[in-house]
Amino acid sequence: MSVNKEIKRITTHTLQSMKHDGEKIAMLTSYDFSMATIVDDAGMDIILVGDSASNVMAGHETTLPITLDQMIYHAASVVRAAKRALIVVDLPFGSYQGNSKEALNSAIRIMKEAGAHAVKLEGGIEVRESVERIITAGIPVMGHLGLTPQSIYKFGTYTVRAKEEAEAQKLKDDALILQEAGCFGVVLEKIPAKLAEEVTKSLRIPTIGIGAGPSCDGQVLVINDMLGLTKGFKPRFLRQYLDLYQEINGAVKSYVNDVKTQSFPNEKEQY
Ligand code: KIV
Repeated sequence: MSVNKEIKRITTHTLQSMKHDGEKIAMLTSYDFSMATIVDDAGMDIILVGDSASNVMAGHETTLPITLDQMIYHAASVVRAAKRALIVVDLPFGSYQGNSKEALNSAIRIMKEAGAHAVKLEGGIEVRESVERIITAGIPVMGHLGLTPQSIYKFGTYTVRAKEEAEAQKLKDDALILQEAGCFGVVLEKIPAKLAEEVTKSLRIPTIGIGAGPSCDGQVLVINDMLGLTKGFKPRFLRQYLDLYQEINGAVKSYVNDVKTQSFPNEKEQY
């Protein structure tokens, strides 16, 4: 399907219509101006400034260390680049779990200082009060269920979630709670495809899957992973569109060689 580039700016209402019309929603992460410019120009519906920046930008093992200030820095760079996509920014670990007032203040900072369009946070019933308070302030909120990386030390592993009935039931309940609290969409990460299909059918709001099968209303990937920049990271759900690690490594080796052999710069590359 060709991308409709006539649309001026994707809004949460556009996403609702896309679900209604059966048009799949494309979402991808970005963390900086250059990449977000390319992603937006390619027709992305949603750019997620994910707290995966903690892993792929800063080199941390988990998403936990990234701060609100750092998220705002990344988000502001992405906002300056994107003309069409809806920009959703993750509330980082520690910026909303304390209480709903703290959650609202963090969301306000992201909207005011970065110019984002919406925030995303992880969890179900535990964050309902915060979701409601943020939305009451006029800030759109996206939920995130299933594998929620900010709770990695509780889970102990990054394997598929909600395979057992009790956890699957909690996820279904949480999805409805988030919808009733006013979320405009919900990310479903690493859960069985059948469960994601059931949740997607039960909700009026769009679901965006990552490792959650084809029935979700949209898909999201981490851009560094799909471009092959994250060396050695190839989970089953990931489709890798390029091998940029090899491409860039090759280019850099050529540059090193050109400098060492004095073939760069040549006569045309000087003043
Ligand atoms: O931080 C992130 O990149 C995310 C996606 C994996 C959904 O939350």
